[in-house]
Amino acid sequence: METNNKVLGLVGSPNPKGRTNELVTAALEGATRAGSAVELIQMSEYVVAACRDCLPWTCVTNLECNYEDEAFKFLSQKILNCAAVILGTPVYWWDTSGMVKYFILKMFRVFARSAPLRGLPAFGLSIAGGTGNGLISGLRPVYHFFQVMQMRAIEPLPVTRFNFPAALERAKELGRLMADMSLHRTPFTTLEERLLWYDGLPYLGLNRAAERCLLADLTILAQPAGGNAEPARSLIRADALAASGRLLESLTEVTGAYELGIKVFDKK
Ligand SMILES: Cc1cc2nc3c(=O)[nH]c(=O)nc-3n(C[C@H](O)[C@H](O)[C@H](O)COP(=O)(O)O)c2cc1C
Repeated sequence: METNNKVLGLVGSPNPKGRTNELVTAALEGATRAGSAVELIQMSEYVVAACRDCLPWTCVTNLECNYEDEAFKFLSQKILNCAAVILGTPVYWWDTSGMVKYFILKMFRVFARSAPLRGLPAFGLSIAGGTGNGLISGLRPVYHFFQVMQMRAIEPLPVTRFNFPAALERAKELGRLMADMSLHRTPFTTLEERLLWYDGLPYLGLNRAAERCLLADLTILAQPAGGNAEPARSLIRADALAASGRLLESLTEVTGAYELGIKVFDKK
């Protein structure tokens, strides 16, 4: 079996030159600068087939899929033998891409019980490159994967086209952190410790309204200096409305802020 000390980057997009690729590449660049060997894989070249629910459930003991699936064999060996993993997904309909989902589901079926990835450092990022909707909900399946497989995940990176340049820089920093963490695997000692670790990660616990506020915030942060102050004022009004329990009016105000905020991008 191949073993290595590499930081592995998985691009879960059908576009090898798209934004997911740019972000995963940036994270690997950070890891390289910190001294790690790295490897980038385009999942579009290894699209895993849907889990077919083998019965009896033999893959749980022989640790391989019962059906011919070269893509799964390849990807699972790569992740089983890396020192840290970075998984990037484009956001499709507020969710992860299908190719990422199929990979995750088959990994669960074959490896969740034996947990060979316990303690593996992991970092997930999503890119909601259209409206920006789903920047958090698209990440959740990735972090559910990390949690169920007992990996040691760091904070996620939710990205939209509105915060893309800043996100590239943050991806590099978090890639460096992956390189540092790849030197020492620290599995969780109890289930409770693991659940609390994941509860402590930012973003993942946001409800839908809070996710929309975050999105509006990102568009405002990206405004040019001296630009329109109205979106920011709108968000302040939204906060005041939320504080007095007027949630529907508050969220409507957030949408107004978002719609004003994105105008500067749509002009480009
Ligand atoms: C089927 C499909 C669904 C999409 N759904 C969303 C969405 O829910 N939210 C969003 O912001 N962008 C959405 N997009 C836009 C992609 O997130 C965007 O194009 C992203 O850059 C794709 O990543 P890539 O550049 O790596 O291909 C969708 C694109 C496709 C093809």
